[in-house]
Amino acid sequence: MKLLFLGDVVGQVGRDALQKMIPLLKKKYHPDAVVINGENAASGRGITQKIARQFYELGVGAITMGNHTFDNKEIFDFIDEDSKIVRPANFAEGVPGRGYTYVKTPSGEELAVINLQGRTFLPPSECPFSKASALVETIRKRTPYIFVDIHGEATSEKLSLAWFLDGKVSAVVGTHTHVQTADERILPGGTAYLTDVGMCGPRNSILGMEKDAVVKRFLTGLPVRFEVANTSPQINGVFITLEKRTGRATGIKRILIDDDHIFME
Ligand SMILES: [Fe+2]
Ligand SMILES: [Fe+2]
Repeated sequence: MKLLFLGDVVGQVGRDALQKMIPLLKKKYHPDAVVINGENAASGRGITQKIARQFYELGVGAITMGNHTFDNKEIFDFIDEDSKIVRPANFAEGVPGRGYTYVKTPSGEELAVINLQGRTFLPPSECPFSKASALVETIRKRTPYIFVDIHGEATSEKLSLAWFLDGKVSAVVGTHTHVQTADERILPGGTAYLTDVGMCGPRNSILGMEKDAVVKRFLTGLPVRFEVANTSPQINGVFITLEKRTGRATGIKRILIDDDHIFME
């Protein structure tokens, strides 16, 4: 099983970059499943049905979300019917949408995709650790291939979740910070890990947003409206290979493409 995961897609710049790059990445890696984080896809805030459909046309099998899941109100109209959109599983009971889904691969196997949100410097949510435990127990009866997107701010929380789930899931990959880390590895139990995969969006920006506005907020502390920056893009992702039958990770490679780098092994 080969899995391509791309980090938080930010605005039109990120979407256009995916339109161009997903076909090329598919040609290079031949993934069985493509998963992206789409929490910032609509002008940096949430996602719309039209945008989700554009991603599906590119072959995206699941879209994970995060703290911006419900920022675009349109999502309330379609999240319950769209089985490919996955919002954090540890949101409160009764919140619309689902916390995990299954992506069918061309060979008929299934990749489970779970989204969780950290609790450090993020709005309150249920415990991601106990939620993960319960979900994994159920999911493992159906498939050994389990991908976890831990949407979180704190490295220690993401790494703790990875060690907690080592040997129980195929991969734990972080999102939310929009900055790719360089600590990809496979833990002893066979779980691939990367603290943060980074983002697909405008590069000369602050986390995808127009930088002068963000700097102004730091300088003045006054409320400032952030808009997605309009610069050339970066693509951040990860390519993970899993052993047949066991679902153990056999490889994890970072992908980083922008005007100055083409880092893809
Ligand atoms: Fe994000
Ligand atoms: Fe986020």
